[in-house]
Amino acid sequence: MRRRDFVLGALGAGLASSGALDTLVGNDRAAKAASARGAIPYGAAVRTDLLDPELDYKAAIIDHCQLVVGEGGLKWIDLRPGQDQFVFDQPDRLMDFADRNGMQMRGHTLAWYGAMPDWTKTIASSAEAERELVHHITTVVGHYQGRIPSWDVVNEAIAERPEKGSVIRDSIWQERLGKRYIEIALRTAADIDPSAQLVVNDYNIENPTAQCRDRRTALLNLLRDLKDRDVPLHAVGIQGHLPGDMEIDREGLSAFVEEVKKMQLDVLVTELDVIDDKLPAREYDRDQIVAARARDFLGAICEAARPSAILTWGITDRYTWVPMWFKREDGKPNRPLPLDAECRPKALMKVIDKFTRAAE
Ligand code: XIL
Repeated sequence: MRRRDFVLGALGAGLASSGALDTLVGNDRAAKAASARGAIPYGAAVRTDLLDPELDYKAAIIDHCQLVVGEGGLKWIDLRPGQDQFVFDQPDRLMDFADRNGMQMRGHTLAWYGAMPDWTKTIASSAEAERELVHHITTVVGHYQGRIPSWDVVNEAIAERPEKGSVIRDSIWQERLGKRYIEIALRTAADIDPSAQLVVNDYNIENPTAQCRDRRTALLNLLRDLKDRDVPLHAVGIQGHLPGDMEIDREGLSAFVEEVKKMQLDVLVTELDVIDDKLPAREYDRDQIVAARARDFLGAICEAARPSAILTWGITDRYTWVPMWFKREDGKPNRPLPLDAECRPKALMKVIDKFTRAAE
């Protein structure tokens, strides 16, 4: 039995006795089906620089996670301070931590519009853009060849609000290469590490809104186009930054995953957290709603396919990106993640455990 299961078994017993666990998750058919199909690896985004100074943070990652992904470190802004520089110190430290603790490390991310160093603004032509993108992916994937089994090769390729004609999100890559950059990135990664799972990762497809429907359609069309042209691609990453005040479009999300499965693509949940800025102030109420949103989200996905991994974007409320964009008006700290600021499991952790642990 994993250390984590032993610990949670004891905690879960306490919660279950209050009935909260059963009402929240126990009756979820998809959770039962998922756990019956075997364990799904769980992981979290990690702030590598905190692993040494904050022992409880490090212990929480070790106790709960089979996977880690750097919240930073493998983004261009961290890795490429200068056009002739590759700074691997931080991701190397996370790689060593993962190796020492029997975990796998995901790579995030090779081609994105965000977190780009200023010098990349000087990339002036399509030839130069292709050269820089290929050189970056060749060097970075090569540095970790055979050690990072899954890469978010392309992150957030779909426009915020896809309209006819402008479906691919603006970026230096899109501006210089058009949507060809996606194929270039995937083919380069496949050439350098044929063993790696290559993932196209995106967000905001989970709710019953016209925008989510349009984004689901645009993402499916992109995936189909890539598969039809035999571009190397193995999975889609559903980030899962869930607006806590919006219901999950269970039918729409399950149908999306069914279509992905028909393309022989795997599904990962890559960045789950629940944005609670518009949820009630009372912590217990907020935690229950956060957990219920995650249950509905994971349930919708697991009804259609077994995700090859479920990761949250951080593990403790002490360190979350959510207040960067979604500060609460009442000034209370956000509670989007599975563990509270003291690294104690919340209802969301129980939901994740229900979906990721193998049936006893
Ligand atoms: C965020 C990090 O959490 C922040 O610390 C950083 O300042 C900006 O990027 N989707 C993604 C992640 O794919 O890379 C983003 O991470 C959050 C949204």
